[in-house]
Amino acid sequence: MSYFDRMKIKFQELRHKNDVLILSIESSCDETSISVVKNGREVLSNIIASQIEIHRRFGGVVPEVASRNHILAISNILDEALEVAGIKKNQIDAIAVTYGAGLVGALMVGVNFAKALAYSLDIPLIAVSHVHGHIAANYISHPDLKPPFVCLMVSGGHTALLEIKDYNSFKLLGSTVDDAVGEAFDKVARVLGLPYPGGPEIDKLAKLGQKKYDFVISHSLQNTLNFSFSGVKTGVVNLVHNKTQKGEEINKADIATSFQECVTDELCTKAAKAIKMTGIEKLVVAGGVGANYRLNEKLREFAKEKNFEVFSPVLKYCTDNAAMIGSAAYYMLKDGLGLADLSLTAKPNVNL
Ligand code: KG4
Ligand code: ZN
Repeated sequence: MSYFDRMKIKFQELRHKNDVLILSIESSCDETSISVVKNGREVLSNIIASQIEIHRRFGGVVPEVASRNHILAISNILDEALEVAGIKKNQIDAIAVTYGAGLVGALMVGVNFAKALAYSLDIPLIAVSHVHGHIAANYISHPDLKPPFVCLMVSGGHTALLEIKDYNSFKLLGSTVDDAVGEAFDKVARVLGLPYPGGPEIDKLAKLGQKKYDFVISHSLQNTLNFSFSGVKTGVVNLVHNKTQKGEEINKADIATSFQECVTDELCTKAAKAIKMTGIEKLVVAGGVGANYRLNEKLREFAKEKNFEVFSPVLKYCTDNAAMIGSAAYYMLKDGLGLADLSLTAKPNVNL
C-alpha cells in the first residue's frame, strides 16, 4: 500500500480519536515556527524564530534571505518544540503545514520539511491555508469561542470581512480592492523613516501624537464591505514629500495618529456594518494588525455602543506562529479535510 493510501485510513481513524497531538509548521514569511497543539486548543509548545532583525536593515523582507534562514533554523526549532512540549516524535498524530499564501521560497522550506517528517513518521500531513490559521488563533486564545462569527481579517497580506459559518465554512463579505491594511501601515512607517516592521512602530508613535490631518478613504466603497487603503497611504506619502520639499518640519507622531485614526475608523465602521448585515453579534479579529492598540480600543467602543462582542487573539498569536496552524488543522481533520499527499507544493496565493 502506498504512503497516501495508508494515510487515508489513518486520517479517518484520527477523526474519531479522543486526544490528537498535531505538530504544525509555519514558514510563510519571516518567522520560522513549530508548535505542538493538543485537540486544537491547548498549545504544548510554540517556538518562533523571528528574522525581523535580519530583514530590518533592508527595510523589508528579502524573500531569498528569508528562505535561507528558514533552512538554517528549522531543525533546531523542531527539537525545541518537542522538548518544550515534553513529547517524543512517535507521540505525534499528524503534521500540519502552511502551504500558502506567502513567499513561495519561504513556504517551500516548511512544506518540504513537513513532507519528510510525515513520511518518515508514517503519519498524515494536513495542508493549511495561512489565513485560516490566523482565524484559528482565536480558538487558542478564547477556549469557549465557537463559530458562527464575523471575522475581521487584518494582516500584512489580507484585509477582509468574512462570515465564519462553521470551523471550515467561510463566506467572503468584502475585501480590500488594493492594499492590505498591514501593507499600508508598513508603507507609511517607511515614509516616516521608521524601522521594519512598521505597524508596531506606528502603533507606538501614534500614542504620542494628535489627529491633525484628515486623510480620506475613497467614498466609492462606502455602501459595500470592501476596503481601499491605497488612497490614504498615498495621502501620507504626498504630505511628507510636500513638507520635505518646502523644508517644513514633519511631526511624525501627528501623521502616525492621523493615519491610524483614519484606517481604524474605516475598519470599525465596516466591521459594525457586517455585524448588522449578518445579524451575528460576535466579531473576531485575526492577523497581525489585530495587535494594534487603537484598533482594539475602538472596536470595543463600537461593540459597546452597537451591542456586539469582540474577540482578538492574545498578542503573541496575532502575528505569524505555528500554533494557529495546528489549531486550524485539528478542525480540518475533524471534518475530514486537508489530507495532503507528498505532491503538496507551496502556493503564493490560496483561497481560504
Ligand atoms: O499576520 P501577519 O503577522 O503576517 C501576514 O500574514 O501578513 O501581519 C503582519 C502585519 C505587518 O504589516 C505588521 O506591520 C502588522 O501586521 N502589525 C501591526 C501591528 N503589529 C503587527 N500593525 C499595526 N499595529 C500593530 N501593533
Ligand atoms: Zn500572517
